[in-house]
Amino acid sequence: MTPTMQPIEQIAKIFKDTFGHEPAHIARAPGRVNLLGEHVDYNGGFVLPAAIDRATFIAFAPSTTLHSSVLAVDLNQSALIAPSTISEKTQPDGTPLPDWAHYPAGVMWSLLKENLAAPNLNAVFASDVPRGAGLSSSASVEMAFAVAWQTLGGWTLPPMQLALLAQQAENEYVGVKSGIMDQFASACGVEGKLLLLDCRSLEWKTLPLPEHISIVIADTAVRRKLTSGEYNNRRAACEEAVKLLQNHLPEIKSLRDVSVEDFNRLANTLPHEAAMRARHVVEEIARARQAEPALEAGNIQLFGALMNACHVSLRDLYEVSCPELETMVAIAQALEGCYGARLTGAGFGGCTVNLVEKNLAEKFSSALAKKYEDETGIAPGVFITHPSAGASLL
Ligand code: GLA
Repeated sequence: MTPTMQPIEQIAKIFKDTFGHEPAHIARAPGRVNLLGEHVDYNGGFVLPAAIDRATFIAFAPSTTLHSSVLAVDLNQSALIAPSTISEKTQPDGTPLPDWAHYPAGVMWSLLKENLAAPNLNAVFASDVPRGAGLSSSASVEMAFAVAWQTLGGWTLPPMQLALLAQQAENEYVGVKSGIMDQFASACGVEGKLLLLDCRSLEWKTLPLPEHISIVIADTAVRRKLTSGEYNNRRAACEEAVKLLQNHLPEIKSLRDVSVEDFNRLANTLPHEAAMRARHVVEEIARARQAEPALEAGNIQLFGALMNACHVSLRDLYEVSCPELETMVAIAQALEGCYGARLTGAGFGGCTVNLVEKNLAEKFSSALAKKYEDETGIAPGVFITHPSAGASLL
């Protein structure tokens, strides 16, 4: 894979130039694309992501200093992360840790909290996952550092446990109340396969991607600010809906436990906004459940239709779309060979995911890029992706 050779060579060289010796190890942690089950992971639902063939790469070696020295190649910035000042989110000299360093620092913080050794390291990392685009660039950074500290700490955890620690870093240190999907997909990805995760039991399995299908990712190149605030608001609305629905359905613990029938009966007992958010979640969980037999049977028409329905729901009920995502999805759905297209990830800008007939995928990608640029004046990033393996040492 040529695109992955570049960051590896780049980080190895920069590591040597910076620290004066070769890195001891290189690790890789992929981004992910979610095909179905959007905004349901924190509601105990089912998600259907795949790890992608774009990743964060980290070159690292143990350090004898009292801090970790971390260099982010893509930003051309470095930071010092010390166990003694990590809780204050500052570097040893008292200056604040830059925002990007909250991800590695959060992982170290999370590991130390669980009494797992996170020895100081020198690290250089780079990523070809588009940043802030709904492809879990941050989870891939977290998982890359989790693998690095696992390697140097002399302990080993199952990938799902490592993912949970990275999620804890994101929830409690970074401050985004995200679910487990992103870290799970980055940790547990399987080459060539889609993943189906039950976000309550954490049981998961792989599902086949038909041979004749390509996954195309289209980046609108639009990034919204305040995403984490909007995200946490959506989550709070779901929690409010659960509380109110418990007046009628005392046994429910999350929206996962509410059937579409019960929801239809009780929706008018909820405030308007909470009802819209909860309806998306309840119906999206039902769609993700329908997807399993559809994919097992290779019924890509049905799966694509579920993706299209998911998009409408994210736009109208969850309200996480934006004009550029709408343009990208509308163009894609009208192109030859497209079975389904929708926004992917948290929303508010970022990427769409498209299921496309393999022999039309190149043609689809260039037509999509051209039409999107003609309509918006923005040059998008469109690429065909392949499900990849999860985070590991190379
Ligand atoms: C972000 C979060 C995930 C998930 C998605 C929406 O990627 O990190 O946990 O909630 O949004 O499905």
